[in-house]
Amino acid sequence: MDNLIPFFMKAIQKEDIHRPPFWLMRQAGRYLPEYRDIRKQAGSFLNLCYTPEYATEVTLQPIERYDFDAAILFSDILVIPDALGISVTFKEGVGPVLPHIPEDSLSDYANKLKRISLQKDVLDQTLSPVYKTVENVRCTLPKDKALIGFCGAPWTVLLYILEEKPSKGCERTRGLFYTHPEIVQTYTDALIEASVHYLSQQIESGANVIQIFDSWAVHVPATLFETFIQKPLYTLCKRLKKKYPHIPIILFPRGLNQEQLKRLVFERNSCFDVLSLDYTLDMTWAHNTLQDHICLQGNMDPAVLLSTPEKVKEEVLRLLSLMMQKPGYIFNLGHGILPQVPLKNVEILCHTIQNWHK
Ligand code: CP3
Repeated sequence: MDNLIPFFMKAIQKEDIHRPPFWLMRQAGRYLPEYRDIRKQAGSFLNLCYTPEYATEVTLQPIERYDFDAAILFSDILVIPDALGISVTFKEGVGPVLPHIPEDSLSDYANKLKRISLQKDVLDQTLSPVYKTVENVRCTLPKDKALIGFCGAPWTVLLYILEEKPSKGCERTRGLFYTHPEIVQTYTDALIEASVHYLSQQIESGANVIQIFDSWAVHVPATLFETFIQKPLYTLCKRLKKKYPHIPIILFPRGLNQEQLKRLVFERNSCFDVLSLDYTLDMTWAHNTLQDHICLQGNMDPAVLLSTPEKVKEEVLRLLSLMMQKPGYIFNLGHGILPQVPLKNVEILCHTIQNWHK
C-alpha cells in the first residue's frame, strides 16, 4: 500500500521534489456544476454521503477536472454524531441541525454515547456505506494519487453536539466543563472511541492519509488548550499510529496562535506528520519556525480565488517561492474552497503549481 502514493508521500517524507503536491479543502463541492447535478439527484446531503455510487462519483469529480494529487473522501465530520444516534439534518441555507439536548439530560446523553461508541456494529450500521465509498474510490483513483480519509476532532464535533451554532462560540461547553468536567470527558471519550474506529475502517478500506479537522479550535480559552485540543488530538493520533504507523496524519487546527502551534508540533512525539495552517497565519513565520520540524500544508486565502486570474497566479507563486525553499510542503488553501469561486481561477491555480519548477 505504501508505494501506491509516491508523490504525495514524497513531500511528507521531505524528499527534494520540483513542485509541491496539491489539493484543496472542500474540493468536492458546490463550486463544481457536476457536483450540483449529483447533489440534486441525491436529494438530501446525507443521502449523498451514504450512497456509495454518488459519493464515489463526487469524490473523483475534482480529480478528473483538475488532476489534483489527492482525492478527499466525500463524507462529513457530522456522520459521527449521526452514527452515535444523534440524528443530523442539513438545512438548505442554514447548515447542519442537531437536536437540542436539555440541561438535565446532558449526563445521560454522554453515557449513552459512550456505550454506543463501544458497539462497533451499531456504528457501522450507519457508517458502512462510507467505507464502501473509500473502497470504490481507491479502486478507480490512479495509483500515484493519494486518497485522504478524515474525521472531525473531538472538540469540534463536541461543539456541534452541545452548541446551537459553533460559529457563535462555545459558552455552553465551557460552562459545562467548569461545573461537570467528567461529563465533558465522557463525551470526548465517546468521540475519540468512535473516531478511532471510523478512521481505522477508512484505512482498512484503502485510505492512504488521514486528515483531522479541528475547525473550531479557535474558540478554546488559553487555560483549556491542553484539555480540549492537545490531549484529545494526541490521544486520537496515538491510537491510530499504534495500529497504522505507516499512515500519515494531517492536523488542521483552525485559529490557533503561533505559541499553541509550536507546542502542538514540538510536543507531538511523532503522533502526527503534517500541520495544515489556516489563512490567518503568517507563512514566513511557519517556514522559519516549523518547517524544519514538520511538513506544512496551506494556506492561501480562499478569497483570492474570487479575484482575477492574474492575482491568483501571483499569490500562488508568492507562496511557492517561500515554501519550496525547504522540503516538506503541500499546497492547499487556508480553509475550504468557496462555492462562488469561478472555475477559471481554480484552473489557473492548478496550472501555476503543475508548471512550477524549483
Ligand atoms: O471535498 C471535501 O473536502 C470532502 C468533503 C467534506 C465535506 N465536509 C462535504 C460538505 C469535508 C472534508 C467536510 C468537513 C467538514 N464538515 C468540516 C471541517 C472543514 C471546515 O470547513 O472547517 C465541518 C466544520 C463540517 C460541517 C459542515 N458540513 C457544515 C458547517 C456544513 C454547512 C456549511 C456549508 O458549507 O454548506 C456542511 C455541509 C457540507 N459538507 C457541504 C459539503 C460539500 C455542503 C452541503 C451541500 O452540498 O448542500
